[in-house]
Amino acid sequence: MLAMTTTKRPVMTIAKLDRPGNGAWKHDDPETGYTLPSRYFYDPELYEAEKQTIFYRTWHLVGHVSEIAEPGQYVVCDVFQQSVLAIRGHDRVVRAFHNVCQHRGHRLVQTRRGRLGAVLTCPYHAWAYGLGGELRNAPNCEGVKGFSKSEITLKPVRLEEFAGFWYVNLDPDAEPMAKAFVGAEAEIRRYCPDLDNLRLVHEKDYHVAANWKVVVDNAIEGYHFPLSSQYHRELADIIDYDRWDPRAHGNWWVFKGPPKPGLTQAYGKPIGNAVYQTDWFFNLNLWPYNTVYVFPYADFFGTFLMMPAGPEQALVRCGYYRPDRPEPDLTKAAMDWFGNKLAVEDIELNVGVQQGLRSFGYDQGRYMIDPARNNTSEHLVHHFHSMVYDAIHG
Ligand code: FES
Ligand SMILES: [Fe+2]
Repeated sequence: MLAMTTTKRPVMTIAKLDRPGNGAWKHDDPETGYTLPSRYFYDPELYEAEKQTIFYRTWHLVGHVSEIAEPGQYVVCDVFQQSVLAIRGHDRVVRAFHNVCQHRGHRLVQTRRGRLGAVLTCPYHAWAYGLGGELRNAPNCEGVKGFSKSEITLKPVRLEEFAGFWYVNLDPDAEPMAKAFVGAEAEIRRYCPDLDNLRLVHEKDYHVAANWKVVVDNAIEGYHFPLSSQYHRELADIIDYDRWDPRAHGNWWVFKGPPKPGLTQAYGKPIGNAVYQTDWFFNLNLWPYNTVYVFPYADFFGTFLMMPAGPEQALVRCGYYRPDRPEPDLTKAAMDWFGNKLAVEDIELNVGVQQGLRSFGYDQGRYMIDPARNNTSEHLVHHFHSMVYDAIHG
């Protein structure tokens, strides 16, 4: 159990003292409750606790199966300083290893993706590993007393395929994804029939000056859609926003909405005969931050990863995947609209929140929970905060 700490200068008003923020956070009643106290969004001690209790125990999306399709192909996934390499061997088996040489600890590969030949060679003293992790050669090892190559292997990491993507987990005893996320794969496949036939077309990283939870909070409520800036209002305009349905299923949560009836344009282009996977808006999150989505009338599948990069820094990584067919103009416009317009508006909102969370004039706010858990309701934010708090405090 982590000791509760308060680093913010206390504001001694009656209202502040009345709120459940100075001791344990009360979160059993979302309809009357207050948000997770601000210190959870910048306190370095709580951030360290999140590493141990959340990120070193949960699943992290590495890449689509097509990115590790051939022998030697690899993708690297970093979880803080823990770098993990997922690679297909010449026996065609995909494995994951800690990305570290067993000699003096040099990182083995430095690039996010690549393709190796017969062996994986450390850049420092050229120890060479087979793609199954076994040490094949260590220069001059013949004269080293008691040195046995067969006793040295790369250290394995849990790896699973789930809904068309590879995921890793630093906890060897982690619950399998099929058990942790019951029902999620079927839900994803419902809205993305091309899931197994995708190819990565683009990946973009955003460095956001906000705690990772600020980014997640913003990504799981539709309350702000019709109320904030231009591209958010455009999003609310292309979905049947009144039928937008945000829903939690334990470790995963989903929000989706059908298209607005009678729409002829989207993302500034005519819909016409455009090819698309679905006309629905669909967004599904796997605890703690892995997100997959499809946008109405767009023929691409997106990944949206909101990774912590410091107590008040997040790395938002957007992957764009497409089926193997010509790219419609509408799809191109949708990817540009999402990555360069909507995402930019969201980043500004995230940074603005992070700045405010540091204020002596704020600690917690009310969740705007609609009794019907409808489009504007923030019940998923409460659900997510509760998961974070329970993970940290046991
Ligand atoms: S650290 Fe890798 S070979 Fe020496
Ligand atoms: Fe947003």
